[in-house]
Amino acid sequence: MITDEDKERVRQATDMLQLVGETVELKRRGSDWWGCCPFHHEKSPSFHVNPTTGLWKCFGCGAGGDVFAYVMKRESLDFPDSIRYLAERAGIELSEERSGPRRGPRRTRVLDCLQEAEKYYNTQLMRGRGDGPAAGRRYLSGRGFGSDVCRRWGLGFAPGHGALTEHLRAQGFSRQELVSADLALEGQGGRLRDRFYDRVMFPIHDEQGRTIAFGGRVMTDAKPKYLNTKETAVFSKGKHLFAFDRAKDSMVASGTCIVCEGYTDVIAMHEAGFTNAVATLGTALTMDHVKLIERFARKRIICMFDGDEAGQRAAERAVRYIDKTGVEMLCVVLPNNQDPMEFLRDHGADALRPILAAAQPLMDFVFGKRLAGYDLSVPGRRVAALDDMAQVLAPLADSMLMDGYATQLADMLGFDVDRVRQVIRDKAAAARRKEAERSRMEAQQPQPQSQSQWQGDRQAAAPQQAAQGGGGEGRALPAAALSTDERMQSVAERELLSMIATHPDVMRQHGDRIATFTWSDSRFEAMAWAMLATPAGTPPAEVVGAATDVVADAPRILAGGRLEVTSRMPVEQRADFLLDVVELWSKRREVREIKARLRMSSSSVPDDQARGLFRTATELQKRINELSNRVSAVA
Ligand code: UTP
Ligand code: MN
Repeated sequence: MITDEDKERVRQATDMLQLVGETVELKRRGSDWWGCCPFHHEKSPSFHVNPTTGLWKCFGCGAGGDVFAYVMKRESLDFPDSIRYLAERAGIELSEERSGPRRGPRRTRVLDCLQEAEKYYNTQLMRGRGDGPAAGRRYLSGRGFGSDVCRRWGLGFAPGHGALTEHLRAQGFSRQELVSADLALEGQGGRLRDRFYDRVMFPIHDEQGRTIAFGGRVMTDAKPKYLNTKETAVFSKGKHLFAFDRAKDSMVASGTCIVCEGYTDVIAMHEAGFTNAVATLGTALTMDHVKLIERFARKRIICMFDGDEAGQRAAERAVRYIDKTGVEMLCVVLPNNQDPMEFLRDHGADALRPILAAAQPLMDFVFGKRLAGYDLSVPGRRVAALDDMAQVLAPLADSMLMDGYATQLADMLGFDVDRVRQVIRDKAAAARRKEAERSRMEAQQPQPQSQSQWQGDRQAAAPQQAAQGGGGEGRALPAAALSTDERMQSVAERELLSMIATHPDVMRQHGDRIATFTWSDSRFEAMAWAMLATPAGTPPAEVVGAATDVVADAPRILAGGRLEVTSRMPVEQRADFLLDVVELWSKRREVREIKARLRMSSSSVPDDQARGLFRTATELQKRINELSNRVSAVA
């Protein structure tokens, strides 16, 4: 378990500007830093970061939140993993690592264990005696990987027969650590067996170059050809890429990443000077892979899939990412069904360069390849081809790119564009129905601490009043259907909340006034009090943490706002202005509520009470006029 304390320690330790600055060029404007949003594509900066609160927000795409939300999005991690990710960067040991036999061995131990295994396998290959290691050396050199390549890539040989297990145990690694690293399997009677047996080993590293997994290849035609580490605490094939650590610099320099299918392809590519090559690990390219790549290769991804059917399927699957990434997705297929390693062996690097330079858009490749299977002079085959292609294009149905592809396809098949579009839309709808069906089948998890719980009694009771009164005022509606007044109030309140978060000590002086407000959303009220309740001198990041403790959504709520008129005001003036605006909306709300009660119950509210309400409303209206004048003088 990650504790709140862990979370706050990590928050304090993270320099938001530095984190964002890794991938976004930021420029200072006032107290905020602005840049082009990393989560959608734009030319003028609408993304800003406030280093004091540690919050960020993009006015272009609406994304925003705290440092964890940022990392979740950028690294495609879930919330706990975003904390682990930042903790690791900051060198903070989380409590789960200190105390965690329940969660399995410490990460660092698993990583150490894997590193030691890489060393052991490599030593076996380079210097091991006996038939096994000799066969490994022979096999690899037969494929063009001499001893220097083996050393550079840390290739190895796994003898099996418990040799690695014994070695690691002698080094002080526990049984649990070996199993967690997926280097050993627990056999019958609790005996440990080596996981890799008589295979040449390809170590896999994470972005920082740490050993996280292995691919082991048999030296015969036995199956499976490759055995890979299964998903572990430190390795996920859907997130990691082979040789990514070695390709980063060259990806940045060239703006390009070449994605191959195999380990051997990547090694051959790097050795031939194409150092921006990576490979997926026995799996299709995922969105996470694409996101990882585009952080470094900002211009294009060249899919260099094998020319066989599996390669074609891989290309078709990758089509779905075209509209989800700002980088261009290109495709190269080598002649004669060769894979990169075979091609380089037979033709050399110079022959590959022009082929890479002529990489075609992924979609053109998929169109061409798929349609090659159809005799388009036969009308029935054209219909079948359209149906087939629509299936491939369905994931892009809502994309801006759709029109272009539909036109292209219509031209190729000789159909009307509208018809092509319709067929694609139908396919997409069918896919969505299936998806909806699937999610309906999945057990419905009750939402913990949902919005309505925070909405509080006042609002929960209001709809009935409104229904009876027949009036449009005083209603509490779901967020999507907020009236203009509700929305305006909520905007003002969020602005005030941001102000409390950024200047808690200034705003504390106004606590008494804030206490009189009637809020549009009781979550906001709870956040205000949580923040104001922090002791004087509490840094803004911790103040945000206090709000998050009472309203999980607080970072998102706080990240919004920033009214144009207030951004240039001195702090004190801004505080007064915001308090006036929020009070104005608060009083208007109270008046609406009173009017609703009066309307609802000309009969059920006793006269003296009605008179009281009326008097209050009149008082409120006076204050509203006063506030309204003050606000409009400023705005
Ligand atoms: P290939 O079958 O193309 O292998 O699989 P390769 O890389 O060309 O290997 P060699 O040259 O025959 O030694 C491509 C990739 O698919 C995964 C591996 O990651 C491999 O590098 N794969 C393949 C597996 O995970 N398991 C398998 O059984 C086969
Ligand atoms: Mn291959």
